[in-house]
Amino acid sequence: MEIGMKDSYLISKLNWFYSLEVTQVDNYMTQSKAIEHPYISLALARFAAIEQEHVENIAAYIKNMGEEPTASGDAVSSYLGRIIGKITPSTGLMNMLRFNVAVEKKAKSDYKKLIDQVKEPKLLKLLWRNFVDEDLHTSWMEEQIRFMLLANEMKKLGLTKS
Ligand SMILES: [Fe+2]
Ligand SMILES: [Fe+2]
Repeated sequence: MEIGMKDSYLISKLNWFYSLEVTQVDNYMTQSKAIEHPYISLALARFAAIEQEHVENIAAYIKNMGEEPTASGDAVSSYLGRIIGKITPSTGLMNMLRFNVAVEKKAKSDYKKLIDQVKEPKLLKLLWRNFVDEDLHTSWMEEQIRFMLLANEMKKLGLTKS
């Protein structure tokens, strides 16, 4: 079966998400193993499992269209490189969370753009579902950043020990 222009556009979009989600699984797994903060480490391991679901639901949709999902690491890493350049330097853990938030926001805005173009109900549901997860990841990490900033302020004011 030959695929039309519209389908090839959609497949290239879906492959972008596939690549991004594969990278997200990898990032969260690596970070989860690397950081010492036990609760954040646990949360990031859960995030990796959720991103893996995204990898699988997108792969399944592409396969259903008769194509093979293909991850382009290059497109994603050049994008991530640009994000890193924009982050204000701060402590290691907070920097990592800020980077993650920036990537999640990029994923959210890309999902939203495709949502606005798609009409097929099954795909719409899938995209919204993934979007909600990215939204939750974003909020949770932003909350951790707020806690850390507050703790730093309290330390500066001498309100906490050490
Ligand atoms: Fe995701
Ligand atoms: Fe996410």
